Amino acid sequence: MPAQQTKFLLSEDAIPTHWVNMNPDIPGAQIPPLNPQTREPVGPADLGAIFPMELILQEVSPEPLIEIPEAVREAYKLWRPTPLYRARRLEEALGTPARIYYKYEGVSPAGSHKPNTAVPQAYYNARAGIRKLTTETGAGQWGTALSFACAQFGIDCEIWQVRASYDAKPYRKIMMEVFGGTVHPSPSDLTEAGRAMLALDADSPGSLGLAISEAVEVAAQDPTANYALGSVLNHVLLHQTVIGEEALLQLAKIGESVDLIVGCTGGGSNFGGLTFPFLREKLASGAGPVIRAVEPASCPSLTQGTYAYDFGDVAGLTPMLKMHTLGHDFIPDPIHAGGLRYHGMSPLISHLYEENLIEAVAKTQKDCFAAGVLFARTEGIVPAPEPTHALAAAVDEAIACTQTGEEKVILTALCGHGHLDLPAYDAYLRGDLVDHTWADSELQEAVARALTRLPVVPA
Ligand SMILES: Cc1ncc(COP(=O)(O)O)c(C=O)c1O
Repeated sequence: MPAQQTKFLLSEDAIPTHWVNMNPDIPGAQIPPLNPQTREPVGPADLGAIFPMELILQEVSPEPLIEIPEAVREAYKLWRPTPLYRARRLEEALGTPARIYYKYEGVSPAGSHKPNTAVPQAYYNARAGIRKLTTETGAGQWGTALSFACAQFGIDCEIWQVRASYDAKPYRKIMMEVFGGTVHPSPSDLTEAGRAMLALDADSPGSLGLAISEAVEVAAQDPTANYALGSVLNHVLLHQTVIGEEALLQLAKIGESVDLIVGCTGGGSNFGGLTFPFLREKLASGAGPVIRAVEPASCPSLTQGTYAYDFGDVAGLTPMLKMHTLGHDFIPDPIHAGGLRYHGMSPLISHLYEENLIEAVAKTQKDCFAAGVLFARTEGIVPAPEPTHALAAAVDEAIACTQTGEEKVILTALCGHGHLDLPAYDAYLRGDLVDHTWADSELQEAVARALTRLPVVPA
């Protein structure tokens, strides 16, 4: 292999000073959330029961750039700027003329991109006098990130970890506790929503939608507590745009222009964070990369869901969002990419998909783990199960380039490492990993059933 640069680093003073707010760039993207009781657009007062005012204002801000508070930039210095790598060894293994770059977010304290928003959320809540944040976690990454962030600003953190993940990832629970968080499996008997699910199915594997219900229920009843969401909402995607802003700078320094961006999508936060700064340039200039979201075949909200108002959680406590959804009580198979087991999708990403400004594909978990193992053996990083979806799609494209001879530049976010996901790799290597994808017809039936229970919205 010729001596060529592999990783592209920035100094601390290149940490972005502002987040990129896409709201003003996408006409029509501001489709108001609805109050779950009145079905009228929610106002700041409704959201004020669980969110601090600064985050509520960011949710609807018309400003193209929002300044990052100094205390947040200081905390970002613990891991930002993150490295951009050229995947030379993966390219060589594939024999592709494509050039593959990945922005590695696994260097953060939690091991993923999630602290990029956990830190500002804990900061704004602490400044508003809140003493505790409640939340859900699927992969365990978001709970770890929020637990870390709360410790930075001296507030408590209480986490409902989806049962399937709680059982499969004991080390994630311990890590959340090391940072000071309290962790419960979801469904739990601590909330009405949890008890209702346990009454239906004592062995329920849980879902992100249910864990959200439990965390929201507890926050709404405690005036000193708020709730924090790790994805989906506009302010979460906003905070994640530091990923794309740094990547733009790193690629500009080496004179590369990207042809394709692929990112995995659970609720859309790493995908939005990576792509929005590129999309802003594309919308302004009329030219730019193809942008492709990659989701699990067993929870395909963009490719098989419907675009409608739905609750963000199982119990119907959250505001209703216009989004691609599989139905709020759809319980996906317990796949290992727990962070992608969400029935809905960010309204901003959903709107972009409706407007054909982004594409989407779905991948099965065995194909994703195959790409993850290939990546680990070539690039030396064991990816979290979630970004293996993006890697599998990047590999597909790079293989297509071997056939066409195109020297495409492909960018992805390696949004987390898989050091605490090794049992899943073990299952894959032993041949025990199953593709939970139901037969297409079964999945369609389950989705169709869940969609009959969508909330009715006044015309
Ligand atoms: C490593 C990792 N990647 C991706 C996701 C999916 O979330 P999002 O679509 O918000 O990036 C998660 C969620 O927990 C995660 O932990």
